[in-house]
This record gives sequence, structure tokens and C-alpha cells, in this order.
Amino acid sequence: MITNKVQFIYENKLIELENPDPNQTILSFIRDRLKKTGTKEGCAEGGCGACTIVLGELENKKIKYKAINSCISFTPTLHGKQLIVVENLVSQDGSYHPVQEAMVKYHASQCGFCTPGFVMSIFAMSKNKNNNNDIKDAISGNLCRCTGYRPIIDAAKNIKKNYSDEFYKNSKTTINLLKKIHSKSIIIESKNKKYFAPKTLNELRKVIQKNPDSDFLSGGTDLSLKVTKDRQEIKKIINLNNIKELNFIKIKNNEIIFGSTTPLIQVEKFILKYYPDFNNILRRYGSVQIRNVGTIGGNIATASPIGDTLPLLLSLNAKIIIQTKKGNKQILLNNFFIKYRKTKLKKGEFIKSIIIPIYKNYNFKAYKISKRFDDDISSVCASFNFKIKDQRIHDVAIAYGGMAEIPKRAKNCENFLKNSKFSEDIFEKAKDLLKRDFNPISDMRASKQYRLEVAENLLIKFFIETKTKKLFRVYE
Ligand SMILES: Cc1cc2nc3c(=O)[nH]c(=O)nc-3n(C[C@H](O)[C@H](O)[C@H](O)COP(=O)(O)OP(=O)(O)OC[C@H]3O[C@@H](n4cnc5c(N)ncnc54)[C@H](O)[C@@H]3O)c2cc1C
Ligand code: FES
Ligand code: FES
Repeated sequence: MITNKVQFIYENKLIELENPDPNQTILSFIRDRLKKTGTKEGCAEGGCGACTIVLGELENKKIKYKAINSCISFTPTLHGKQLIVVENLVSQDGSYHPVQEAMVKYHASQCGFCTPGFVMSIFAMSKNKNNNNDIKDAISGNLCRCTGYRPIIDAAKNIKKNYSDEFYKNSKTTINLLKKIHSKSIIIESKNKKYFAPKTLNELRKVIQKNPDSDFLSGGTDLSLKVTKDRQEIKKIINLNNIKELNFIKIKNNEIIFGSTTPLIQVEKFILKYYPDFNNILRRYGSVQIRNVGTIGGNIATASPIGDTLPLLLSLNAKIIIQTKKGNKQILLNNFFIKYRKTKLKKGEFIKSIIIPIYKNYNFKAYKISKRFDDDISSVCASFNFKIKDQRIHDVAIAYGGMAEIPKRAKNCENFLKNSKFSEDIFEKAKDLLKRDFNPISDMRASKQYRLEVAENLLIKFFIETKTKKLFRVYE
């Protein structure tokens, strides 16, 4: 069953859009069609949070609230969700939401341009009953240039406890409405553009066969910038997010398997138990808004030399399953990247899943160096996975991002370290070999010299942290 209608819940009503423009952002829909102008456009690239809205999604029969950047999400992706904009927080009698009350009480707004975005991020955090430790994380994707963050954090800390609001009171109605939304596959034809949202892998294969020149859409945190920044049109989009077979997490044969459209926020939570530093790096990946939608498959397919999960996955010898015309193909991630943003994927092929071995008795550590702590892309990202026994290095994998046109293993350095003594002088010698492995460029993020020096220092840092069994991190 196929439809050309996108259905979502807004102000407790089921809204239906027939053939909406697949390139229209939700931000433009909110401001131009709904005429709600509380949601602002700051950067149009997911970096400032002024456009933050919240989507309600049914998860285990409950509504899960997710803050997202409406400037880089396309309108048809609203299908099956509840749309909440800042105007909806005010009650029918005109009283403010407890989050807004706290923002007023703690003087957390000056010019006000950023305020709706902060309110929505904090609203999502409080609705999901996250605790105070999550405040900095929740607002890491929101920039304020005049109030300063302390009053905003104070407001977030002091929201009325266990409050009830209109969303709570209406939750049964909303859940019933969400359940009513049809679960058909979507095909939209709007002017010269097409949008497909198949429900199953079988349907996906058929869509690809007929439309091999389409762009896949996962989180859209990279793809959408073609429209918002490059001012291009994307003629054909295949949204992978409605296919349950691509969104899963499981453990099998001592390996973690992520479906390719698993959002990074879920990867971050799941991986904590196995690789705490993977979780640490993901917590600094973009913002909650970005990680709520950005996917692990999307990060790999983008093949950016500074994609944060990539050096980590390389050092863990991760594999990916690719769907080709002939069937599934398994490939070591180390063999996937060809050159700058080029991978082995052929037209119409897509990543189905990612397999990460669970290493026992290994030391895995990863470090991200960026100009700003939160919501910034790496200048250098390094990942180390070592097996050390009786003061000898039995196995070693070292990978860096930001050091070459692709994320890459440090082969010379690895070969030197393997079977060597686990000692400071060996690491001092090994760090010189990084110059043979990498010849980085200078760009606006960092100079070549800086990148090399940081890469060397991170190798030594790994040694010191492993040797002393202490973490030397500047953050909590
Ligand atoms: C504000 C902001 C901050 C960011 N911060 C970071 C950061 O800290 N670290 C970092 O690494 N990145 C960062 N990024 C980059 C971005 O988040 C990543 O590139 C992201 O992982 C892409 O995933 P996605 O699911 O959003 O992919 P999409 O944008 O949906 O797709 C990206 C590309 O991959 C293709 N694709 C998607 N899924 C598949 C699949 N399953 N198979 C084959 N091809 C596919 C698409 O066609 C497209 O070409 C940031 C981006 C923004 C906008
Ligand atoms: S407008 Fe800046 S994040 Fe959307
Ligand atoms: S109040 Fe002016 S940017 Fe935050």
C-alpha cells in the first residue's frame, strides 16, 4: 500500500500534507505555512539551535520527546510524529510552561533570539525525565551570544519538579492519534522532485531498481546541507528511516551489530558498557539535536576524514554489510574508504549494518581534539586498541581522523609497536613514525604542524593513561 500523504500530529489534530515539497525544511514549513515564527533561523546548518523543535514519537507505547534542528530536516520526515513548536508550550489559559517560567525567573534571556531553541531543548530533556547531569548535554547544541549560559543552566536546574503540563494531560489523545497514522509506504511527486519512504527492504530494493540515481536519506545532517547551504535541489530522495530492518541493535557471536539507521544517540547509550571512550566521543559529537537524528550508517557513508566514529570503528576492526544488486557483501571498514569522501559503494548500494567486535582484555581509548569542546568537528581524532600482557604489546590498532584525506590506520606505527615492550621509550620512538603514516593538510581547523604534534601527543597520552590506569581529561 502506497500513499502520497504525509501525516503527523500538531496541536492535537491529525494533519495531512499531500505531496509536500521533499526539499522543504520543517523550519520553513513552520514559519511559512503554520505562520509560527517563534522558531528562528540562525545558521541554517544545524549549528546554533535557534530552530530547535521537539518531535514526539511512540516508543514502547509511550511518547519519547526528541529535540531536533528543524532547519536541516525535510518536511516529509514529519510522518508518524507529533510536531511541537515553542508556541505550543503556553497553556490554553495563557500561562507559561514550567520551563518558560524558570527561564523568566532566572533571567535566562536577553535579546531572546536563542531563547525558543533553549526552551525546546530543555523541554525535551525535562519531558524525558533526564536528570541535572544532562543539562549541559541537552543544551550543547544551542548557542547564546548575550545572556551567557549560567542563568540558562540555573533555569534548567530549577524547573518545578514532577510538573504536569498540557502534553501530559493530552498524552492519551496524542498516543491514539499517533496510532491512527497509516503505516503505508510513501511516494511523493512534487514539481520536479520525488521522495520515497519505503517500509521494508523488499520495497526499498524495488525503489532503488527504478530510481538508481536517488540520494539516500538517513539522519539528513549531512545531506540536507546540499539544500540549505549549497542551495542545490535534491531531485530524488529515498528515506531509509521507516525500514525497521535497518534500525536495530543486537549482540551476536561476541559482536555488536548496529542497523545502519540506528541514531547515534542510541549507539552512544548502548556502547557505554563495552567501550566507554566510544560513548565519550559520541557525547561530544555535534549536539543532542544532531545525535537524535544522525545515524551510524550515515556517518560511515559520508566518509568524511573527520567523521568521529570512523577512527574508533577502524581501531576496533569493524565490518560493514553492504546491500549490492546481487545480495549482501561484508567488508572490513578499513577497506571501505578510497579517497576524499569516496567509498566502495556503487550506485544503488547501501550500508545495511555495522559489526563491531567486542574485545576482552584490550585497552581501548579515544580522543577528540576540536576548537570548541561541544558541537564542533574534530581537528584530530585518535583511537587506540591494544592488547598488553606482561608488559608487552601483543596486538595493536591505531587510527586517526583529520590526518589524511580519509580516516586511516597508522600502519608504520602499529608495525613498530607490535610485539614491543610496553614502555615510554618505545612510545617515544613510535610517535616519530606517525610522520611516515600521515602527511596532513593545513586548513581552517588546524595547521599541518599542529595536527602532527597533537597526533604524537595523543599516542603518548594513551601510553600514560594506560600505564597509570588514570584518566587525564579536562572534562567531567
Ligand atoms: C551541526 C552539525 C554538527 C556535526 N558534528 C559532527 C561531529 O561532531 N562529528 C562528526 O563526525 N560529524 C558531525 N557532523 C556531520 C554529520 O552529523 C555526519 O556526517 C552524519 O553522521 C551523517 O549521518 P546522517 O545519518 O545524518 O546522514 P545523511 O545526511 O542522511 O546522509 C549522509 C550521506 O550518506 C548517505 N547515506 C546515508 N545513509 C546511508 C546508508 N545506510 N547507506 C549508504 N549511504 C547512506 C546519504 O545519501 C548522504 O550522501 C555534524 C553535522 C552537523 C550539521
Ligand atoms: S538555524 Fe541554526 S541550528 Fe538551525
Ligand atoms: S539571549 Fe541573545 S543570543 Fe541568547
